[in-house]
Amino acid sequence: MTIVILGAGALGSVIGGCLAENGFDVTLVTRNKDHVSKINETGLKIVSRTGKRTIEAKATTNPRDISKARFLILLVKTKDTIDALESVAHLKQQKDLCVMSLQNGVAKNEVLSDFFGGEKVIGATTIIGATLLEPGKVAHTYDGITYFGELNNEKTERVLGITRMFNESGLETRIPESIQSAEWTKLIQYTPAASLAAVTRLFFHKILKDEHTAYLFVSVVRECAALARKLGIVIKDYFNFGIEQLVDADMDIAVEMIRNRGEQFEKNGLTKIKISMLQDIERGRKTEVDATIGYIVKKAKEYGVSVPNLEFAWRVIKAIE
Ligand SMILES: NC(=O)c1ccc[n+]([C@@H]2O[C@H](COP(=O)([O-])OP(=O)(O)OC[C@H]3O[C@@H](n4cnc5c(N)ncnc54)[C@H](OP(=O)(O)O)[C@@H]3O)[C@@H](O)[C@H]2O)c1
Repeated sequence: MTIVILGAGALGSVIGGCLAENGFDVTLVTRNKDHVSKINETGLKIVSRTGKRTIEAKATTNPRDISKARFLILLVKTKDTIDALESVAHLKQQKDLCVMSLQNGVAKNEVLSDFFGGEKVIGATTIIGATLLEPGKVAHTYDGITYFGELNNEKTERVLGITRMFNESGLETRIPESIQSAEWTKLIQYTPAASLAAVTRLFFHKILKDEHTAYLFVSVVRECAALARKLGIVIKDYFNFGIEQLVDADMDIAVEMIRNRGEQFEKNGLTKIKISMLQDIERGRKTEVDATIGYIVKKAKEYGVSVPNLEFAWRVIKAIE
């Protein structure tokens, strides 16, 4: 079964590398020529908390090289989505093609459905962490859970298939009751992290540990959750982050939970997690703010939900951009 990673940068290389290491037929596609040359010449290097390894993997800069794909995983940054999709338009005719995106944000399934047709799309979300260290070398910074699900939440062969391949490759995967709910829950966790990383430029564990950023973290979670609930989305603790308590518990308790989590991250050596929004800002690149924080601010306006902290963060990040 052919798996194509469209946008094999940090996250795509970690996921594609793990799948290839386990014997699955994976092609990594990126426009980053140096990354492709290194991977093809000397293998893909993955650095994780358990050590370093080199994986034999196929990479290309030319999507036209791909004549078929059973699973296509979109992993370019959201600003590059349309160009990337156009580059694989020839795969649209393939009947059994199944496409999904692990990008942050919740608008991606609509974009994929518009391009490929809704029947080809499954929902997906992950909290795996990854960073590109240099061409041919990526860091796997966090072993998070990945969720896959049909947009109508039926358990189909193709969802079981992709889930099985991830699990066999050491990437913990589950099928939720509602993929929309899992995707929103991820967005609700990502949004405060991204907002505060962009404004403070701190590593993730420090944002969690500090009393003031922890307070803001909970406040932003609550703003996002208020909108999700208004939209009829159920918030569940898909990622073991205590999200339901963060939304509903007494504020002091919720802030303490966040601070304790920061302590745990530090104790477990998770001190190098830099949220991708911050990575983009530091590299002077356009961020994904519009697909994530901006999306929520816009929807909140539409539905009459007050999100002052988020609007502040969104405007600051737009100004930085
Ligand atoms: N990294 C994480 O820990 C993480 C975790 C969860 C979710 N995510 C989400 O996953 C997505 C990818 O994040 P990332 O950190 O992996 O980004 P990234 O390192 O920038 O990787 C994206 C890759 O796509 C390539 N690309 C851009 N346009 C392309 C095109 N038209 N055709 C082919 N390749 C193209 C980029 O090349 P260039 O370098 O030339 O731009 C880059 O190699 C984002 O939506 C992010 O929010 C990331």
